[in-house]
Amino acid sequence: MTKGNHNSPDLKSGKGSKDYSRYFDFSDAKVISEEEGKITYRIKGRNVQINSQPDYKEGKRRGKEEIEVHYDFEIPEEMQNFGVDKYYHITTYGCQMNEHDTETMKGLLEQMGYKSVDDRNHADIILLNTCAIRENAEDKVFGELGHLKNLKIEKPGLLLGVCGCMSQEEGVVNRIMSKHGFVDMIFGTHNIHRLPHLIKEAVFSKELVVEVWSKEGDIIENLPKKREGMRAWVNIMYGCDKFCTYCIVPFTRGKERSRRPEDVIAEVRELARQGFKEVTLLGQNVNAYGKDFTDIDYTFGDLMDDMRLIDIPRIRFMTSHPRDFDDKLIEVLGKGGNLVEHIHLPVQSGSTAVLKKMSRKYTREAYLELVRKIKISVPNAVLSTDIIVGFPGETDEQFEDTLSLVREVGYDMAYTFIYSPREGTPAAAMEDNVPMSVKSERLQRLNDLIKENSRIINDRMLGEVVEVLVEGESKNNSEVLSGRSRANKLVHFEGPKELIGTFVKVRITDTKTWYIKGDIVAEAAAVH
Ligand code: 5AD
Ligand code: SF4
Repeated sequence: MTKGNHNSPDLKSGKGSKDYSRYFDFSDAKVISEEEGKITYRIKGRNVQINSQPDYKEGKRRGKEEIEVHYDFEIPEEMQNFGVDKYYHITTYGCQMNEHDTETMKGLLEQMGYKSVDDRNHADIILLNTCAIRENAEDKVFGELGHLKNLKIEKPGLLLGVCGCMSQEEGVVNRIMSKHGFVDMIFGTHNIHRLPHLIKEAVFSKELVVEVWSKEGDIIENLPKKREGMRAWVNIMYGCDKFCTYCIVPFTRGKERSRRPEDVIAEVRELARQGFKEVTLLGQNVNAYGKDFTDIDYTFGDLMDDMRLIDIPRIRFMTSHPRDFDDKLIEVLGKGGNLVEHIHLPVQSGSTAVLKKMSRKYTREAYLELVRKIKISVPNAVLSTDIIVGFPGETDEQFEDTLSLVREVGYDMAYTFIYSPREGTPAAAMEDNVPMSVKSERLQRLNDLIKENSRIINDRMLGEVVEVLVEGESKNNSEVLSGRSRANKLVHFEGPKELIGTFVKVRITDTKTWYIKGDIVAEAAAVH
C-alpha cells in the first residue's frame, strides 16, 4: 500500500546520494545485515536499523508524480492487540498540524490497545512530536531527551520515539543517532501511518529504527483519529510549495497535496453528526488548496462555499498566504453564516524589500489592498498575523515599515518571532547581520504596539453582546467559565458548568489585553 523504497542508504558501495559520514562517525560502525533496502549497523554498542533517512535535496524536489489516495489502511494483525495493558504518552510541540498529527498517532495507538497516561513515568511508549520552525523549539526537545534518558535507564523496556518536523532534518537525525542513542525510533511526518510497523521493528529487533521519508507519501484517508473536546481540526492539504526563504516547512512537510473535496466534506459532516461545534480546516497554505487537482477545477473558495452548507456552527481555517487569497474566497467569506469573520493572514514584514528577500511574492501595498478588500466584503473582519523581526539585513527603516503596517491594519492579535536561521534554507546563507540586542528591542517594540492595538480593539467592545462557545472552567478560577467568540477572542464570565459545550450570549463588561469579561445576557438560554 505504501511506497516502497524511500532513498534507502547505500553506504558500502558509495553510490546513492547520501554521505553517511555526515550522520555520525562511521569509523567504528559495522554493517551487521542488509536486506530489502534496510541496513543494520553496529555502532557504539547499539544496533541502528536505517530504513530510510532525511535528505534535503530529495525533500526539496517537486515532481509531477500523481499522489495516490488510499482508503484501505489497517493495523497489521499481529499488532492489533500489542498495546493491551500498556500506556502511551505523547508530548506535542509546535503548530496545529502537529497537534492534529498527534491525534492520529493517539488513534493508531488506541487501536492497538494502548491507553493514554498523563504521568510519563507510567508510560510504556513515549513519543516526542517535534517542531523545527525555530531553533528554540529544537532546544526544548534536546533538553527533554536529556531528562528521558534517566527514565530509559530506570525502565529499559520503555519505547522512546522522536517524530514530527525535527526528524525530517538531516542534522537532527545525525545528532540523535550520535548523542542520544537510547532513542528507539525516529520517524518523520510522511510515515506516521507506519507507527505500528515501527513499534514492531523496534521492539523485536531492539534496534534504533530510523525511518524518515524525504519524499512525501500518498494520502491515507482512513487513519484513526482521537479527537477530544468540541473543536476539531481537519486537514485539507499537506505540505507547502511556497519556499519562503526563512522557512523549513517545505522541506519537512513536502510538496502540496490536497485531499479530495468529497473526503473533506464527508469528514466535516461526520464531525457535525458527532456533535462537534467548531472545525478548523488545516493546511500550511490553505489558499493553495485544489491547485494540484488535474481533473477538477475546485479551489479553497469552493470548499468554503460547500462548508457553509454543513450544519456545524463554526468553520475556521489556518493558515493562509496573502499571495493566493483570491477574490472568490473573499466573496464566499462575505456570506458569513458558519464561516467566522476571523482571518489569520501572516504578513511577516511591512517592508516590500524585506518581503522580497523573504520570497513572499507580494508587496506591502498588495497586502494592504487585500486587507482593504477583506474588510469591505467581511463586515467586522478580525485579522491576526505572524511577523518576523530581524530578518537578515533588516534596517531600522524597514522595521519601522512593519510597525506602520501593524498600525494601519489594526490586528487583533499577532504571533511575533525573532528570525531564527534554519539550516538548509536560502536565508541561512544570508548574512545574519542584525545584532541580537537589536532584534530583541524590535520584538519588544512590536509586542508593545500589538498589545496597545489589542487593548483598543477590546475596549471598543464594551457593552457589546457576543456569541461564546463555552469551553470549560477558566484556568485560574473554577467559578468562572471561559470560551471563545466567533472572532476567537477569549471571554470569561460566571455561569453554571452545564453550559460547557453550548453557545451563550455574553455582554462585555470589562476588558483586559488578551481577554474580555462579561455577563451572560439574562434572557439567553443556551443556544445550541
Ligand atoms: N525564524 C523565525 N520565525 C519563523 N517562522 C517561520 N520560520 C521562521 C524562522 N526561520 C514563523 C513565521 C511563520 C510562523 C509559523 O513561524 O512567521 O508564519
Ligand atoms: Fe513556510 Fe512560507 Fe510555506 Fe508558510 S507559506 S509554511 S512561511 S514556506
